Amino acid sequence: MSIEEFVPKTAYSPLPAGKVGYESPSNIALIKYWGKHGEQLPKNTSVSFTLTNCKTTTTLSYSPLETEKPEGSFDFEVYLENERKPDFEPKIGQFFTRIEQYLPFLRNYKFIINTSNSFPHSSGIASSASGMSALALCLLQMEQKMITARSEEFFLKKASFLARLGSGSACRSISGPVVSWGEHNNLPGSSALYGTPFIGGIAPVFEGFQDTILLVDTGKKEVSSTVGHNLMNDHPYAENRFQQAEKHIDQLLYIFKNGDLEGFVSLVEQEALTLHAMMMTSKPYFILMKENTLSIINKIWEFRKETGLPVCFTLDAGANVHVLYPEKDKQEILKFIKEELAIFCQNGRYISDFAGKGSKALLK
Ligand code: DP6
Repeated sequence: MSIEEFVPKTAYSPLPAGKVGYESPSNIALIKYWGKHGEQLPKNTSVSFTLTNCKTTTTLSYSPLETEKPEGSFDFEVYLENERKPDFEPKIGQFFTRIEQYLPFLRNYKFIINTSNSFPHSSGIASSASGMSALALCLLQMEQKMITARSEEFFLKKASFLARLGSGSACRSISGPVVSWGEHNNLPGSSALYGTPFIGGIAPVFEGFQDTILLVDTGKKEVSSTVGHNLMNDHPYAENRFQQAEKHIDQLLYIFKNGDLEGFVSLVEQEALTLHAMMMTSKPYFILMKENTLSIINKIWEFRKETGLPVCFTLDAGANVHVLYPEKDKQEILKFIKEELAIFCQNGRYISDFAGKGSKALLK
């Protein structure tokens, strides 16, 4: 599929004032996207679990404008839990500019975007994946009202395509429980333009896979994702890293198909540490882990050695730790988290989540 497919071919029928709404979850990458080119295209294929509890709920109210806005300008207001957030507006404006050719009605309406996150604002959890995917879905739901029916499959593809233009990882939040993004020979139908549900076969042990997010550092991100991805541009190890990620996709295909938990633990931890190793060896360099991140990692390793349970960690571009484990081991591992890991979290806070189905429409 090429980008042309996402440009509407027929005129829209006008729409009176109305409202649409979607909720969309965050996702946690197992194979990391780190490095991009062109217009939000990834340098390597990535794969994530779509989450369930960590999500953004967005409603989009629209009313037709008497006169169309001039090119590159839009009429919208952004609210977080009913409070106006002018500082969110430049990012949304940039998003609108990027997607206007695919949704040419954007300059003909005034929009009120009202958004809320299920996770606390000060949790250090990035809201761009859930937030941008929820907004992309709302806009597409609105477009749906103006055109003749199209397939559900196309709707989800276009939603993911648009979400990607807001934030790369957002394209993996539309569906679930496992989504890949990037063109890979052994992932049929995969694309760099949008996320694709993983169809390689997933053993039952990976269903409802648990992700307990340990809130080590709840402050603002030290390195923005744009700065972070740019660091891969003249990184001395970049090419090897991109090739490694593609090989990891093949390994993950085998792991999912065969329920290979041991392989999963080792692959996922290697990916997390490679992401951080890239940041530690770029120019400028960053250490985004904190002392408590390392204490948690060491505790997980000790616990795994003692009990033989398949628990592992992954990291985003920050200090928080995602603890991943099968549903069947939930009781024992949650007990370990409460008794031995919670002390390393800010105010003992952590969030329990699991791999889920993806986004959901709120209003028809
Ligand atoms: C470390 O999707 O936030 O979480 O495309 O610039 O919005 P932009 O970047 P973003 O990057 C996420 C990077 C990551 C790894 C991942 O989710 O794959």
